[in-house]
Amino acid sequence: MNRGLFITFEGPDGSGKSTQLELLRGFLAKQGLDCVVTREPGGTKIGELIRHIILDNGNGEMSDMAEMLLYAASRAQHVDEVIRPNLEAGRMVISDRFVDSSIVYQGYGRGLGDIVRRVNELAIGDCIPDATFLLKAEPKVGFGRIGAGGEDRIESAGLSYHTGVYEAYLELERAFPERMIGIDATADVDCIQQRIRDKITELIALHGRAGTA
Ligand code: TYD
Repeated sequence: MNRGLFITFEGPDGSGKSTQLELLRGFLAKQGLDCVVTREPGGTKIGELIRHIILDNGNGEMSDMAEMLLYAASRAQHVDEVIRPNLEAGRMVISDRFVDSSIVYQGYGRGLGDIVRRVNELAIGDCIPDATFLLKAEPKVGFGRIGAGGEDRIESAGLSYHTGVYEAYLELERAFPERMIGIDATADVDCIQQRIRDKITELIALHGRAGTA
């Protein structure tokens, strides 16, 4: 059996990933496509427990290295328990965030650099996304959407941190043009959704392996 397509969504906080993912989930279900929609940090019982530890505002003393390793631990479990088995069963897997988030938020944002990529190689093995939708919105826009007071530990890291993270995303888009599909997240919700659907339809036709129910 052919391996399923692995699609990830990335972007700054408040860029509208969740809205687009929900719309896409509905579209794919209507097409009768067997796909798994999941998220990071989280996606498994252990991953959701780790998510709670990482995002808790009460854990302000967490070191940058501990934060990076916790994201990687959540990811290792996610890959082993959900992502790899489903891809191997021929299903499409769509994840709200994946390793690119660690590259930009911990590698660039926390200044940990290339060690983030090396640690995450252990966590993901051969599970590399076939395509990554990058929803692009300046952090100012995203923060407006989240609203004051609603931030978790990462969201409350400050505008200069998030501006650096955003620039790192743009750098990844330039570095991996064959995989990263940048989309203006300030555009109309339906237009964004149409672009995503068109691209996924194209990928399915190209690879002939979406995982049909
Ligand atoms: P979440 O509430 O899921 O944010 P969003 O809806 O924007 O995806 O919280 C996840 C937070 O964790 C988000 O601020 C991005 C951050 N993050 C990292 O810093 N590194 C990572 O590897 C991942 C997966 C997420």
